[in-house]
Amino acid sequence: MRVCVIGTGYVGLVTGACLAHIGHDVICIDNNEEKVKLMKSGQSPIFEPGLSEIMQSAINSGNIQFSSDLAAGVAHGEILFIAVGTPPLPNGESDTRYVEAVARGIGANLNGGYKVIVNKSTVPIGSGDWVRMIVLDGIAERQKTLISAGGSSVEEKLPEIAAQFDVVSNPEFLREGSAMYDTFNPDRIVLGGNSQQAIGMMKELYTPIVERKFAADTSLPPVPVLVTDLSSAEMIKYAANAFLATKISFINEVANICDRVGADVTQVAKGIGLDSRIGNKFLQAGIGWGGSCFPKDVSALIHTADDYGYEAQLMKAAVSVNERQRLIALEKLQQALKILKGKTVGLLGLTFKPDTDDLRDAPALNLIEQLNRLGAKVKAYDPIISQTGMRHGLSGVLVETDAERLADGCDALVLVTEWQQFSTLDYAKMAKLMNHPVMIDGRNFLNPEAMVRAGFQYIGVGR
Ligand code: UDX
Repeated sequence: MRVCVIGTGYVGLVTGACLAHIGHDVICIDNNEEKVKLMKSGQSPIFEPGLSEIMQSAINSGNIQFSSDLAAGVAHGEILFIAVGTPPLPNGESDTRYVEAVARGIGANLNGGYKVIVNKSTVPIGSGDWVRMIVLDGIAERQKTLISAGGSSVEEKLPEIAAQFDVVSNPEFLREGSAMYDTFNPDRIVLGGNSQQAIGMMKELYTPIVERKFAADTSLPPVPVLVTDLSSAEMIKYAANAFLATKISFINEVANICDRVGADVTQVAKGIGLDSRIGNKFLQAGIGWGGSCFPKDVSALIHTADDYGYEAQLMKAAVSVNERQRLIALEKLQQALKILKGKTVGLLGLTFKPDTDDLRDAPALNLIEQLNRLGAKVKAYDPIISQTGMRHGLSGVLVETDAERLADGCDALVLVTEWQQFSTLDYAKMAKLMNHPVMIDGRNFLNPEAMVRAGFQYIGVGR
């Protein structure tokens, strides 16, 4: 099928590359010329395991093109994905101005022939109907110019034009760092909309994925496809993220109680996770959740509830538990070192989770800020940030090139991100290079006995 993806941020580029990989004819549109140039050469502007390989093979097979020409994209696609960012405004609401601009641009460029317009961006609930309205506005504006050149009236034309497209909500559930895997092995595909024709085309688009042609285990039954109305599909995305964030805040709260009563949260998580009603995923206690989705989506849902006169108390509590949890490492450092002024603290990891270069809402940023405020010197080593030299959003921290250099002269280390390579560092050597071999394991990632054998005072979260 002919697909156009507008916006080549994380979601758009992954979607475009994966759809091209399964055989569709994809054009990815972005208004950033530099980025388009980079992608044309097969390079990914974001770090995501497996993405540049898939881009490269799609370029070689001719299944993917990159361009900054929206009109060409709209002309090409029978399915048009809107995948631009909806960053949070200071009050927690989503900023939908990029979605609006794209929807208007699509309207202004619709050229005849039926199109499905797909909301892939995480948009506020109710946006499906709003996008339809904006597209119609875009069409009307264009019609006005055509009419002044002597055509029939807009009102006469609109019903005909409005029948040329439908809007579908198709939320994504990709995790950064495993986006390729998640795309080819989804737990479900959600399609929101009320047009049979549009839903039918979306099902056809995803057939190879539904039939698990590209899955790790091709013998599994087909992927469930859930068809809902527009608002329910939009709500599913928010509710899923809010639930997962709440689940993590819950186990973090249990961890804090474990710390006080001397229980081990990793065993508790195992014990409750074996209950199939609870499940064992997203029960890893630590220094809290971050990233581009959870904080933004939970705040947006709280905000929407508020707009409709409802206080989302449980979600608000999940956020406040998380805010406190993000400073748990600081509390533990103060307990271990007492005065932090004049001490040097080394952070193992900076990104909000492993296998990504994303620092958005990373717990490390809060920690750095608070340590600086208390007069401590902060150093860090992160496998990707140290390597790429990316320092976006980072200040008040000295980025070292390896873990041993990091340990040298530190009074304590804090494991902030559970990068796999942190399981095989030479911790005995690192302990010797430190002033005080204190290890705050902010992700309960290391083996406590092994750390003690390496010479560390080991402090986990709730264990
Ligand atoms: C999340 C959702 O998982 C995904 O479905 C959605 O589309 C986007 O948001 P992502 O932000 O990439 O994906 O990361 P995820 O792996 O879900 O982790 C989110 C945060 O929770 C990270 O900061 C992570 O460290 C933290 N986390 C996760 C925990 O603290 N404990 C856990 O058990 C799991």
